[in-house]
Amino acid sequence: MTDLLHETLIAPSILSADFGRLSDEVELVLGAGARVIHVDVMDGHFVPNITIGPLVVSALAPLVHGAGALLDVHLMIERPEAFVGAFAAAGADVLTVHQEACPHLHRVTQTIRDAGSAAGVSLNPATPVETLSEIRDHCDLVLVMSVNPGFGGQSFIPGSLEKVARARGLLPEHVALEVDGGVAEHNVRELVDAGANLLVAGSSVFGGPDVETRFQALQQAATA
Ligand code: DX5
Ligand code: ZN
Repeated sequence: MTDLLHETLIAPSILSADFGRLSDEVELVLGAGARVIHVDVMDGHFVPNITIGPLVVSALAPLVHGAGALLDVHLMIERPEAFVGAFAAAGADVLTVHQEACPHLHRVTQTIRDAGSAAGVSLNPATPVETLSEIRDHCDLVLVMSVNPGFGGQSFIPGSLEKVARARGLLPEHVALEVDGGVAEHNVRELVDAGANLLVAGSSVFGGPDVETRFQALQQAATA
């Protein structure tokens, strides 16, 4: 199933979904063809917002896995190593931690892999891609943040396009490259051309009516 990590895919972020009808919203995007569902976990410490924990991941897992899709869990939390076991047991196929939250990043990616998930490493906008040099052979995915993490619906930071290209140049071919924040129809193609293959989209999928059409338009723009 982690072969999906190497395809060019829009990953709808449930952060912008209607949480009162969360499973319906996820069902809609799965029905429209989504195969990576992005889940944003925030703790009110690493980022100034609080969202969800392993309980919601485990509640969504049967639906997502039943459709042959992946749960891509983005941990914007301090001490993520303390929660790897719980999220892996809840059904996270990918667990991405922030480099800025992990003084012992190498150990954390090993722990994630040992727990049976793919290991992702995320960089905040101000963290240089060159800091990936020692971890690039010990992770399965790199996530370039194109906004400051914490909220959906922010504007894409323009220099992020070039940053994605530099990240791709540094990474081994088998490491997936994801971009997160401000992804929309107008920039999705250039991000793919720059080397990103997983494109997180929150408000541009769930932020208006007709979620299925919005998802499909983005997926088409990414692969056209
Ligand atoms: C932000 C989150 C994103 C968020 C993106 O901290 O990591 O995944 O959902 O939202 P949009 O696509 O609206 O910028
Ligand atoms: Zn995210």
